[in-house]
Amino acid sequence: MDRIRIRGGKPIDGRIVIGGAKNAALPLLTASLLTDETLVLTNLPRLADITTLTHLLVQHGVSVTMNGAEAGEERGHVLELSARRIASTTAPYDLVRKMRASILVLGPLLARCGEARVSLPGGCAIGPRPVDLHLKGMERLGATVELRQGYIHASAPKGLVGSEVVFPIVSVGATENLMMAATLAEGETTLVNAAREPEIVDLARCLAAMGAEIDGAGSDRIRIRGVKRLRGTRHRVIPDRIETGTYMMAAAITGGAVELLGAEHEAVAAVARALEGAGVEVSETPRGIHVRRRNGRLTGVDVMTEPFPGFPTDLQAQMMAAMATADGAAMITETIFENRFMHVPELCRMGANINVHGASAMVRGVPKLTGAPVMATDPRASVSLVLAGLAAEGETVVNRVYHLDRGYEQLEEKLAACGADIERLVGD
Ligand code: UD1
Repeated sequence: MDRIRIRGGKPIDGRIVIGGAKNAALPLLTASLLTDETLVLTNLPRLADITTLTHLLVQHGVSVTMNGAEAGEERGHVLELSARRIASTTAPYDLVRKMRASILVLGPLLARCGEARVSLPGGCAIGPRPVDLHLKGMERLGATVELRQGYIHASAPKGLVGSEVVFPIVSVGATENLMMAATLAEGETTLVNAAREPEIVDLARCLAAMGAEIDGAGSDRIRIRGVKRLRGTRHRVIPDRIETGTYMMAAAITGGAVELLGAEHEAVAAVARALEGAGVEVSETPRGIHVRRRNGRLTGVDVMTEPFPGFPTDLQAQMMAAMATADGAAMITETIFENRFMHVPELCRMGANINVHGASAMVRGVPKLTGAPVMATDPRASVSLVLAGLAAEGETVVNRVYHLDRGYEQLEEKLAACGADIERLVGD
């Protein structure tokens, strides 16, 4: 198994190109199931999760052509997806267990074929993460849903029917799944208390280009008027705000300066505010975002994760690594997922002073972290250990790098190009 070795203490300095957003790409890939025409997605990141979902789509009968990298200003992968005929409406356990986002095939399959059989997902080890909101939403659109032998059996032989779906809590995935299902339902659907993440807006934009009628994406109330069929289109995936935020933290924790090319400030406004409070300068440039830590140590700031436009849970671990070296204390509260503090014991092994009380972690900043062998259980937790390693004295080896490969494209290349002493140790 590969590992990443970091010799810490060097400020990162330079430019980093931000890739396409993984969390926008995953629902967009499943949207290909909604039409018998070709959907072309550009600016896709090269990540293990994208490959995993592509395998699932192929199994459903989607023909997937890789068109290599884009020319000129456009970067990233291009995929052409054609679901002319759905060969199978079953998403099997072996593929779904690798990635929770596989549940996003449920809405498109049900809408297009009137049935879907999807294995109950497993996913990252961050809390129980149920899918009840997806299932209740499909029932509101007239589907019959049963759970048998680890599979969701959903059917709507006469097609889905538009309705009002009120989400008791904000869910990104359930909003996406219901939005896709409703595009081909009969009549109008309103999603109330919908997620407002930029990835939802990106999906709505693509669906609209495919002929869907959607209003209100980006607000907490989305209206979808069902249409008979959708067509193909070409769509460019938005830049990854979590990758952006992660490199913002890298500049902050190492006392460096980076320009993040292609990054969108609005998508990371809450992150910029938190870092500015900690003594980091964040400014927009014509090509992206510039981040620089002013002289001296970071200052401790309290952070609470919230649905967008709040501070994202996917940057909580990275912020905690930064706060571990700050002057003063920081209270970090996780409100989205239970059990998302698995990076804490590892950060403590590097000399951090962190105590968890329920959903909050009290981080008392220390002047220096020290390198250590560490490992983590999900992509965001692993990258927080890389950030801590960049700032630590001595050598850090991050094990179980496959978690990083799920969420970060060319992480060590991008950081090394900015002067970090980081390399991949290829294992057996
Ligand atoms: C997405 C992101 C993930 C991010 C999360 C929150 C993708 C592929 N993944 O995950 O990186 O951390 O949003 O921003 O986009 N919940 C239920 N029942 C459900 C669905 C969710 O109780 O049916 C709960 C979850 O356990 C969690 C909360 O709702 O506590 C939010 O989860 P959700 O927004 O659905 O996260 P994902 O879409 O899985």
